[in-house]
This record gives sequence, C-alpha cells and structure tokens, in this order.
Amino acid sequence: MSATRPLTLEVNGKRHDLRLDTRTTLLDALREHAFLPGTKKGCDQGQCGACTVHVGGERVLSCLTLAAQAEGRQIMTIEGLQTRDGVMHAVQSAFMDHDAFQCGFCTPGQIMSAVACIREGHANSDDEIREYMSGNICRCGAYPHIVAAVRDAAGRVKKGAVL
Ligand code: FES
Ligand code: FES
Repeated sequence: MSATRPLTLEVNGKRHDLRLDTRTTLLDALREHAFLPGTKKGCDQGQCGACTVHVGGERVLSCLTLAAQAEGRQIMTIEGLQTRDGVMHAVQSAFMDHDAFQCGFCTPGQIMSAVACIREGHANSDDEIREYMSGNICRCGAYPHIVAAVRDAAGRVKKGAVL
C-alpha cells in the first residue's frame, strides 16, 4: 500500500490543499490534482522540457521534482504568467508575433524556460539563446522562430516589460 499525506502547494498565487501519494511528481500534482493541464508531459524522464515550470522563480523539470519538494515554495505554471486582468506576458506575445509554435505541445515549457532564460541573463545572442533553450525539444521544428521570439522578448524586457 502506498503512503499518502496532506500537502499544500502554492501555485500561481493560489493555495491548493491536496492529499497525495508521497511519490507523486510535481507534474502529476499540477495536471491531475490541481487541474492545471497547461504543463505538459512529453517524456516523464527529464529529456524533453515540456514539463518546465518555475519553483522559487527558477525553471525546473516538474517530472523530475516530487510535489513534496515544492511544498512551501512559490510555483508558477504557464497558467499564471499573464497578468490578473489577462494581459499576456512579453514572452507569450513574442511567441505569438513570431509564430514560435505549431502544435503547441512544447510551448508552455518553452515559454516558462524562455522567461527564466531571459531572467538568468542568458539571452544575449542567438547562440546563447539556442544553448540555454536546448533543454526544450520541439518536434515541430519551430526553433528558428523560438530564438527570434526569445530575442525579441529579451529586448522588450530591456525596454521595461515585466518578467
Ligand atoms: S516531461 Fe519532463 S522533461 Fe519531458
Ligand atoms: S510546437 Fe509542436 S512540438 Fe513544439
């Protein structure tokens, strides 16, 4: 029999009181228990980046993070990126403007990764963007558009857009 325990997760500023198997990953907790399906499961083994979210402001692979490890920390998913009144984040609008997605499955992870990539100061050149975004796989091959979107968003942030 598996052990369950009560667990409180703070996601996008909202408290979720859950009761979870201690082995539950943050990815499954978000998708199946907090009902936030924007974070995607492409591999569940840390190889694709579709599950990228922020924990404590830093990008992490939620499939390799236990929900219990994220307790007491601020978690942000793609659903929490827009402002309260629904205005898209600079990275989200840059992805729209540059057609940086096709099927959209890798996109939440790409966007969460891009926000962190810019915040980390790793968006100074196309090569640097390619390197620091290389943990996010895109089967649709949108990479050139993704690089353009990240470059553009980094520029918008420099001009004062909020990250
Ligand atoms: S689902 Fe986490 S890296 Fe692929
Ligand atoms: S847009 Fe389809 S996998 Fe990236």
